[in-house]
Amino acid sequence: MEIAQLKRAAGERAVEFVESGMIVGLGHGSTAIHALHRIADRLKVQELRDVLGIPTSTQVEADARSLGIPLTTMNEHPVIDVTIDGADEIDAALNLIKGGGGALLREKIVAQATRRQIIVVDETKLSPTLGIRWPLPVEVTSFGRVSQERFLKSLGARVALRVGEDGSGFRTDQGNEILDCDFGAISNPEQLAARLDGRAGIVEHGLFLGLVSDVIVGTAEGIRHLMRHDI
Ligand code: A5P
Repeated sequence: MEIAQLKRAAGERAVEFVESGMIVGLGHGSTAIHALHRIADRLKVQELRDVLGIPTSTQVEADARSLGIPLTTMNEHPVIDVTIDGADEIDAALNLIKGGGGALLREKIVAQATRRQIIVVDETKLSPTLGIRWPLPVEVTSFGRVSQERFLKSLGARVALRVGEDGSGFRTDQGNEILDCDFGAISNPEQLAARLDGRAGIVEHGLFLGLVSDVIVGTAEGIRHLMRHDI
C-alpha cells in the first residue's frame, strides 16, 4: 500500500471521534487534510451539525473555508473538544516531533487547549527515539537568529536554516524563521525542551510532550489505534 493511502485512511478514521456541536482543532499537513475533507463531507450530509473549526495555519484556514467548514477563533472558544493533527515523528511514549510544515506554534497553542488531541500518521512516523527520523524544527525571530544558531549548535545540533519551496527564505505564519536541528537521537526530550523553552528568541520548538490522547496509525495491515492510557 502506498503511504498516501495510509495517510488517507488514518486521517479519515479520526473523524469518527468528531461529534455534533464540537469545537474542532484542524491540523496542518498531508495527513490531517484528509480529516478536513471528511469533516466537510459529514457536514454536507448533516451527519454532523454545529461543528466549528479552529485552523492551525493560514493554509488550513483557506482550505477549510473553501470546503465550507464553519470556523471560529481561539479567543471566542478557548477550550477545544477535539483536534486532529499530523506529526513528523512519534515515539512509544506518544511524544512527537512536529513542525515539518512550519505550523508548530499555532499547532502547539491549539494542542495545549484541546481536551482530546488525536494524531494521525502513517506507520513510517513511528520511531523508537525522537530525532532519528526527523530534525527538530525550532521557530526563531529573525532578530538574533544567528545567536540562536550558535546556541543550538552548543546543545549538539547540526542546524539548517529552512528555505521555502521557491528557494527564498521560509517564513512562518507569524513571519518568523525556522531552524531545522538535527540532534540525532534525543535521549531526554524533556530536558531539551526545557533548555529551548528558556531561551529568548526561540518562539517555539517542535517537541510536543505529553499532549497526545490518541494516535491513529495507517499501516499496511490496517488501522492501529494507540491511546495514552494504554502506555
Ligand atoms: C506542520 O507544521 C506539521 O507539524 C505537520 O503536522 C506534520 O508535518 C504533518 O506531516 P504530514 O504532512 O506527513 O501529515
